[in-house]
Amino acid sequence: MKKFVALIGLAVSAAVCAHAAAVPTIYTSQQAANGQAVFTQNCASCHGSDLQGGVGPMLIGQDFAAASANNTIGKIFTFLSTQMPEGNGGSLTHTQYEDAMAYILSKNGYPAGTAKLDYAKAKASTIPLISQVK
Ligand code: HEC
Repeated sequence: MKKFVALIGLAVSAAVCAHAAAVPTIYTSQQAANGQAVFTQNCASCHGSDLQGGVGPMLIGQDFAAASANNTIGKIFTFLSTQMPEGNGGSLTHTQYEDAMAYILSKNGYPAGTAKLDYAKAKASTIPLISQVK
C-alpha cells in the first residue's frame, strides 16, 4: 500500500511539473508577424516599440504578467480588445486584435504553433498568461 501511495505521489508531481514546463502554443507565426504591424501602428505610441511602456504600461516581462498576477489570456485579451487603443476601444477588427495579442505573446516567450488564436475563444480562455521573459 505504501508503495502504491508513493507511486501516485510521483505520478502527480510529474504531471504538475510537466504542466508548469509546457507553455501552450496558441497562435501562429503569421499572426505574430501581422501583429507586429498592427502594434506598431496602433499601440506602440503609448506602449513603446519594444513593449517597454510609455504613456501606457509595459506589455512585456514580469511587471506585465508575473505568475503571481493570476492573469489569463481571456482577461488580458478581453481588456485589450474592448478598451484599447485607449480612447478608441474596440475600433480595430477582430483579426487585428488576434494578431496584436499573438505579437504580445510572442514577445513574452510563448512559442508559435499551428493553432490560430481565435477572437471568441481567446476572450473566454482560462489559460494563464505568464510572461516567460524574466
Ligand atoms: C493612447 C495610448 C494607448 C494606446 C494607443 C494603446 N494603449 Fe494600451 N494602455 C494604455 C493605458 C494608459 C493603459 C492602462 C489603462 C488602465 O490601467 O486602465 C493601457 C493598458 C493596456 C493593457 C493592460 C496592461 C496590463 O498590465 O494589464 C493592454 C494589454 C494594452 N493596453 C494593450 C494595448 C494594445 C494591444 C494596443 C493597440 C491595439 C494599445 N494597448 C493601445 C494606453 C494606450
